[in-house]
Amino acid sequence: MSIKSINWRGATCAVLAAALLTGIAGCTPVAVQGSSPPAGPIEAAAEPNWTSGGMVAAANPLAAEAGAEVLRAGGSAVDAAVAVQGVLSLVEPQSSGIGGGAFLVHYSAATGDVITYDGREVAPRGATADMFLDAGGKPLRFFDAVRSGRSVGVPGAVAMLELAHREHGRLPWRQLWRPGITLAETGFAVSPRLHEMITAVVARGSLPANSAAYLTLDGQTPRPVGSLLRNPDYAATLRRIAVQGAKALREGPIAEEIVSAVRADPMPGTLTLEDLRDYRPNRLEPVCSTYRVYLVCGMRPPSSGGVAVLSVLGILSHVDMAARGATTVAGWHYLIEAQRLAYADRDTYVADDRYEAVPIAGLLDRDYLASRAALVSPDRAMQRVEPGRPPGAQLRGRDATGGTTGTSHFVVVDGRGNVVSMTTTVESLFGSQRMAGGFFLNNQLTDFSFTPFDDKGQPIANAVAPGKKPRSSMSPTIVFRDGRFELAVGSPGGHAIIGYVAKSIVGMLDWGLTPQAAVDLPNVIARGLVVAETARMDPALIESLRAMGHEFRGGRSGGEASGIHAVRRLSDGRLEGAADSRREGKVVAVPYDSTR
Ligand code: GLY
Repeated sequence: MSIKSINWRGATCAVLAAALLTGIAGCTPVAVQGSSPPAGPIEAAAEPNWTSGGMVAAANPLAAEAGAEVLRAGGSAVDAAVAVQGVLSLVEPQSSGIGGGAFLVHYSAATGDVITYDGREVAPRGATADMFLDAGGKPLRFFDAVRSGRSVGVPGAVAMLELAHREHGRLPWRQLWRPGITLAETGFAVSPRLHEMITAVVARGSLPANSAAYLTLDGQTPRPVGSLLRNPDYAATLRRIAVQGAKALREGPIAEEIVSAVRADPMPGTLTLEDLRDYRPNRLEPVCSTYRVYLVCGMRPPSSGGVAVLSVLGILSHVDMAARGATTVAGWHYLIEAQRLAYADRDTYVADDRYEAVPIAGLLDRDYLASRAALVSPDRAMQRVEPGRPPGAQLRGRDATGGTTGTSHFVVVDGRGNVVSMTTTVESLFGSQRMAGGFFLNNQLTDFSFTPFDDKGQPIANAVAPGKKPRSSMSPTIVFRDGRFELAVGSPGGHAIIGYVAKSIVGMLDWGLTPQAAVDLPNVIARGLVVAETARMDPALIESLRAMGHEFRGGRSGGEASGIHAVRRLSDGRLEGAADSRREGKVVAVPYDSTR
């Protein structure tokens, strides 16, 4: 999908979802992939004279610096993303890594093309619909399933980066892994958050011997803050990846190590060398909708993120949110109600669309979203929120699976105006906690529904099947205005990602906040009960929302703490980034270099 093919001057009420949606009743279709060019004026080439410099916003300073180093060397946004992932996998292994999966949204400034890359893990051939049920047919305890070999999907992050690099890389692939290799060999200081996460995972029960040796001093005592952590096995793995590419994880000694780690007790998985060998990442059209004067693009299934964020925004487009600011009861009331409606639909209808007919067009249909918006009262919370019946939907059971604490998001803008918005995950803290080749293996398959049917006997779209990808909530997003890049944003947070990202977009676009102020807004997630960072909220605001009938629960936001990273291009062309203070992130600006 190219943003250059859009008639921005006519794009006032149109809804667009590339590749899937055709003209939507009542609006001017602004761009439909595969259709003839729209009538009317077309903006000039996107970003022909980019002078904004580059920027990296990531969850760890060492990773952000590695990305910036690549940009200074003339690398592209994708080049920098490879380096960021190589370092994150080492210094923030609780959240993402080369043993996990990822989604990447890419914007090419030269062509105006927006494309997404799907590096989601797949279930092995031996996966079965009942593999997360015990002998009595009851769902396994969540953390038993996480630690089992059954939870491990075929990793996809490196293969996805390899594909994106083939299409958008400027620097040699092998150069991009150097920052990770160097840090793994020389060592890095354990950060407060890494220490905290090691403490949390140790408290949950015994670790496999190799991860206990890596994360603790004596099998139990978490490595202290500031201690030097080296990982020569990871350095050796990266050296292989630097030379062989993703093939290094598909066959040979590292692949064999992955298979034996997955097939170890307790509850071995079925993963085979054939499963690893056959993994291929996908290049997918984005799912995009207009929101006011903006075009918002995100991931299509197997992530529910793009569709759900666009559903929230589509419902809010019926409300003047700008007139209801970030401190108003009405503003938060509408944000909560839009989330409740969008989550109900997302929980019910979105899954891997190679296996399930996901009614993406129906879910984002303007009239359908208008009918959902009409359910919202201006002064009372809805009593019950049920999924709707969007056009094209089949009856499905609601799936409450949510995801936990092992994801990271980063944004890169390079010196030519290309943008990467990438969310990357091992699913839970340190994934399955199983290690191979110096890295952690994901537990992404626990993002599937543990049961294939709901309690009314309805099939669940997100049930396990061999070769299927578990539904994700990851929502890497890029927003455009008038044919130009406006902002990129995303977050970790399990199912709460959708709420974190929607809040940040509303904060920046409707409430006029800086990226940092939007990220700093309290997280309020409304999937069923409202779970909110009440400590960040004015008590009078909470009281007013309660009086409207909203049931509040304090604390985190129902998933993990957010780690929202964003970059916005201001009207004067400067870039402004934000790193979530709930984590350890950093924004690094790389000034414009007229010699490149
Ligand atoms: N495991 C987090 C997600 O994919 O949403």
